[in-house]
Amino acid sequence: MAIKIRKLLKKDKTALMEILHNTPEFTAEEVAVAEEVIDGSLDKPQTSGYFSLAAENEDGVFISFISYGPVPMTQHAWDIYWLAVKREFQWHGTGATLLKAAEKKIAQAGGTMAFIETSGKAQYDRTRRFYTTNDYQEICNIPDFYAPGDAKVLYQKILG
Ligand SMILES: CC(C)(COP(=O)(O)OP(=O)(O)OC[C@H]1O[C@@H](n2cnc3c(N)ncnc32)[C@H](O)[C@@H]1OP(=O)(O)O)[C@@H](O)C(=O)NCCC(=O)NCCS
Repeated sequence: MAIKIRKLLKKDKTALMEILHNTPEFTAEEVAVAEEVIDGSLDKPQTSGYFSLAAENEDGVFISFISYGPVPMTQHAWDIYWLAVKREFQWHGTGATLLKAAEKKIAQAGGTMAFIETSGKAQYDRTRRFYTTNDYQEICNIPDFYAPGDAKVLYQKILG
């Protein structure tokens, strides 16, 4: 599937919120936090420290976004905060393409390592496999972090 990657724009917000609401992995609380990050990246990326990219398909339909930013008080570490692909477009390579585009932007901005954290719950099995397929290494696993039985799994990729 041919996709185009570009900066996230204010006009994408409605479609983006629809993706968040239709992603069963995300809780209402997570959607609210994601929206704050998105708004920061749309309104004032340099001061908020949040940046976002969008992917659209060959018909110009908004199908995915990724948000990332420098980790405060570090020199070269960046976090990938949110990544979601519209459900009917998942598993066609869009997530991997968008992740690589964000890694390129991070490297261009001087970042040398990217971090992604996710849940250890079974419903995130595919998501965790997606990260390891994309060369992220599990470097930390904190049992019961989010809730009893819900670990925090931290992944790192050295860029460049
Ligand atoms: C996790 C997520 C971002 C991955 O994005 P995606 O576009 O679905 O992922 P990709 O298509 O790039 O890769 C997924 C799989 O498809 C395979 N794939 C890639 N290109 C493909 C193609 N053209 N045809 C068929 N399969 C393909 C990849 O090999 C990969 O399989 P593997 O992990 O078993 O090796 C997406 O599924 C999603 O939004 N999930 C729900 C929300 C979420 O969990 N977000 C992350 C936490 S913030």
